[in-house]
Amino acid sequence: MSAITLKNIVKRHGTLTTVNDMSLDIRHGEFIAFLGPSGCGKTTTLRMIAGLTDVSEGRILFGDRDVTAMPPYLRNAGLVFQGYALFPHMTVAQNVAFGLEMRKIDEVETGKRVMDALRLVKLDHLAGRMPGQLSGGQQQRVALARAIVYEPEVLLLDEPLSALDAKLRYEVRTDLRRLQSDLGLTTIFVTHDQDEALSIADRIVVMSAGSIEQVGTPEEIYDRPATRFVAEFIGATNIFAGRPEGAGVFRTEEGMAFALPAGAHTNTSVSAMAVRPEQVRLVPAADVAPNAPSIEGSVEDVIYRGALTEYVLRIASGGTVTAHCQNVEGGRSDFRRGDRAVATWPTSATMLF
Ligand SMILES: Nc1ncnc2c1ncn2[C@@H]1O[C@H](COP(=O)(O)OP(=O)(O)O)[C@@H](O)[C@H]1O
Ligand SMILES: [Mg+2]
Repeated sequence: MSAITLKNIVKRHGTLTTVNDMSLDIRHGEFIAFLGPSGCGKTTTLRMIAGLTDVSEGRILFGDRDVTAMPPYLRNAGLVFQGYALFPHMTVAQNVAFGLEMRKIDEVETGKRVMDALRLVKLDHLAGRMPGQLSGGQQQRVALARAIVYEPEVLLLDEPLSALDAKLRYEVRTDLRRLQSDLGLTTIFVTHDQDEALSIADRIVVMSAGSIEQVGTPEEIYDRPATRFVAEFIGATNIFAGRPEGAGVFRTEEGMAFALPAGAHTNTSVSAMAVRPEQVRLVPAADVAPNAPSIEGSVEDVIYRGALTEYVLRIASGGTVTAHCQNVEGGRSDFRRGDRAVATWPTSATMLF
C-alpha cells in the first residue's frame, strides 16, 4: 500500500485551473521532491495534501484512509509552510513542544524530544530564546523542528530551506535527509531548486503549469528527461530543433546533420535533440573523431566558473553550443575568445524528444 495516493486531483480557482488532474503514488519512507518553476502549482498541491486547501476534484489517501475531506489536524502530517509563523509569545522550546502537549505526551518525554529536535536543526543552545530574537533562517529551523518533533506519518515541506544561506542550507538539508531516512518518514519537499531536488530526493516529480511532466529518480530525470521541458529545466542543455533522417542522422531545422546512437528511438514524433554541456568537448578541427557528432564555430565567450570553464561557441546557424570543461588535468581547453573550434560529443550523450 502507498503512503500517499493522489487520484486525479484538480484545483480550480474560479475559472482558472491551477492543478490539473494530478495522480501520484508515494511509497512509505520515500523522500519526494516537487520541482518546477514558480507558479506551476507546487504549493497548491502540497496545501491540498495538508488539508489547508480544498480539492476541487479527485481524492487523496494516506495509506488506506481517504483524507480528502479531513481537516488538517486529523491528517497527522508535520507541516512547514511559507508564512506558517511561530508563536511569538512562546520560547523556541515551547514552540517546538506545542504539538506534543496537544497530543498529551508527558513532560519528561516532551523535554527530551524537544531537545533532540532542536539539536537536529542546531538550535539546542537557543531553546530559551523568543522567536523575535532569531534570524529568519533560525526561525525556519525552529519551524522544521516543530514539524518533526512528534514523528508525524508524513512530512510536508514547502521550500523549508529558502531563508538559509548556502552553507547552512547544505548542512540542514543533509541532516534532514538523515533524520528522514532514520525515522522512515514519508516526506514531500517542495523546491524550485534543481540542485536541491537532485541531491535530496528518492524521486522527483517535475511539474509545469499544474501538471506532472515526469516522475523519476534523480538519475532518470537528469539522464533520460521525458520531455524537452524537463531537459531544459533540469540542468543546462543544448537543444536543436529538427527531426531524425534515415538511419542514424538527426537533421536540424537549419540543415546541420548529427550522428545518432545506434538503435536511437527515432519515431516521427521526435522534434528536438539535446546534449548536456558537460558532454560537449571543444577540440581543434583536426582532432574530431570520425563519425562523432560535431559542429564548428567561433568561441564567443569563455567564462571561468571555478571547477569548470564554460565555453560558448557561436555556430553558422546563428545559435550557440555551450561546453563545460572541468578544470582538471587533461580537462582544460586552451581556446580563447575569437578562436575557431569544433564542439563534439559522444553519440551516446544525445537525447531525443
Ligand atoms: N487562492 C488563489 N486564487 C487564485 N489563484 C491562485 C491562488 N493560489 C494560487 N493561485 C495560482 O495558482 C498557480 C500556482 O500557484 P502555486 O501553487 O503557489 O505555485 P508554486 O508553489 O509552484 O510557485 C499560480 O498561477 C497562482 O497565481
Ligand atoms: Mg510555492
